[in-house]
Amino acid sequence: MPENIQPKTAEKPSPAAALSAPAKSNSQNSPEAVNKIRRRLLWTGIWGYLGVNLLMFLRYFFPRALFEPPTVFNAGYVSDYSLGVDQRFLQSERCWVVREPGRLFVIFAQCTHLGCTPDWEPSQNIFHCPCHGSEYDSEGVNFAGPAPRPMDRCHIILDPSNQIVVDTSQRYIQDPAAGTNQFNDAGAFISA
Ligand code: FES
Repeated sequence: MPENIQPKTAEKPSPAAALSAPAKSNSQNSPEAVNKIRRRLLWTGIWGYLGVNLLMFLRYFFPRALFEPPTVFNAGYVSDYSLGVDQRFLQSERCWVVREPGRLFVIFAQCTHLGCTPDWEPSQNIFHCPCHGSEYDSEGVNFAGPAPRPMDRCHIILDPSNQIVVDTSQRYIQDPAAGTNQFNDAGAFISA
């Protein structure tokens, strides 16, 4: 009978093993490990810098262009308009079409004081600017308030099919203070 068999107990680490354990944890702080971390940080910085520069370089191929709405539009036929101020393009093109005996022109709806959009008051037959009270007659010529000159007129022509084509980016100005009057220039009106 094996009477001297002792129950197995957990082996205590030998003093040599106990000494080697701290040596293992110290290996993470060894100069070589620290240098490795430093090298890794350095390369991370370098690649980050190069990556940002690459993105900035690529961005030049995608300029932030502003796409303005077209300023040229077809306003139909002269016969579509009766005498007076027509507001059908006020919202979409910011202008009024005005038909008078013998001519048709387009007023750009911008007060010449500080740029507000005046209101057309058909009962008084005037344009009234809500911002500072400037008033214009039915041809857009100022007669009251701080507006320094009449409202500008837009370029207008008839195309080969006799339809009205307006370009709101091309303007005709009347400025008495500067001695300028372009309202009778070709392109400022059409005969109607
Ligand atoms: S902006 Fe029209 S009166 Fe001042």
